[in-house]
Amino acid sequence: MNYNIVPHTFSVDRAGREKLNGHKALVVWFTGLSGSGKSTIANRVEQALFKEGIHTFSLDGDNIRSGLNKGLTFSQEDRRENLRRIAEVAKLFVDSGMVVIASFISPLKSDRDFLKKIIGKDHFVEVFVNTSLEECEKRDVKGLYAKARAGEITNFTGIDAPYEVPAKPDIKIETEKEELQASVAKVLNYLQAKLKIN
Ligand code: PPS
Repeated sequence: MNYNIVPHTFSVDRAGREKLNGHKALVVWFTGLSGSGKSTIANRVEQALFKEGIHTFSLDGDNIRSGLNKGLTFSQEDRRENLRRIAEVAKLFVDSGMVVIASFISPLKSDRDFLKKIIGKDHFVEVFVNTSLEECEKRDVKGLYAKARAGEITNFTGIDAPYEVPAKPDIKIETEKEELQASVAKVLNYLQAKLKIN
């Protein structure tokens, strides 16, 4: 549909903001099952970057879904719309020169490809938090797996909704095999080169 929308080109652009900030802008996107440890690792990564003077901002499943995306369900359609809006927000943050730390289950390959396209592949780092369903269910920090098994929650990722494992993530975190500190260091090491302005 044509809404007669003509985007304006602003003189202050991303490259200028990156120069001012002293680092590149990008999105570090954590994907993985509920309870896999996405937010815990993301939080530690943001803390470390912030300490280094990097301009960061976190976007996270539970807080976005209680505000901007309030009312969206966990159907495949609504998850896609959830992720589409988040990708658009993340893109704005990238244009503002920030490093976005995003933690969302983002269970389907097609949706992850879609959001990567919105954000732009040069500004996108995919981190797969590879924690088995068994382990997530054992941890069950929020008690949601128990509710899903009891049929009190439907469309629950890993139980009655799919999670497609990323084939080629930029970084793979193995929370059952490595310490939290090692997982955080893995992400930070990868980001070092990516954040450098050439
Ligand atoms: S998605 O699939 O990317 O749109 O999901 P996301 O926006 O990341 O939201 C995940 C958090 O929502 C809670 N929750 C559920 N998760 C999965 N399936 C169902 N049905 C569901 N219902 C509620 C859950 O707390 C998720 O948080 P995390 O941090 O992933 O555990």
